[in-house]
Amino acid sequence: SEISVTLRDGSTRTVEAQVGQSVMEAVRAAGVDELEAICGGCLSCATCHVYVDKTDEYDLPPMSDDEDSLLESSFHRRENSRLSCQIVFNDALSGLHVTIAPED
Ligand code: FES
Repeated sequence: SEISVTLRDGSTRTVEAQVGQSVMEAVRAAGVDELEAICGGCLSCATCHVYVDKTDEYDLPPMSDDEDSLLESSFHRRENSRLSCQIVFNDALSGLHVTIAPED
């Protein structure tokens, strides 16, 4: 399955995503280092911040209080902000498009 990711330079890439992998892991596995994910997915860094397109068309995992408060610390939070390490990929998310948020 594939997802697409728009980088900070405005270019968009298609990356392979495996079921059970987080969106963060899929993007980084494709060599996209600017999604830093410093904490490795343990919900303590917010450097995996992305904007998710068409959030109402996808059944995204609910946001935990911890994710919500970490996002609250970002200057760039938007309505469709998520931490990509918290979105575990499944086939229903095929075609998902995310944009990497600006650095805080
Ligand atoms: Fe650190 Fe997602 S990788 S919160």
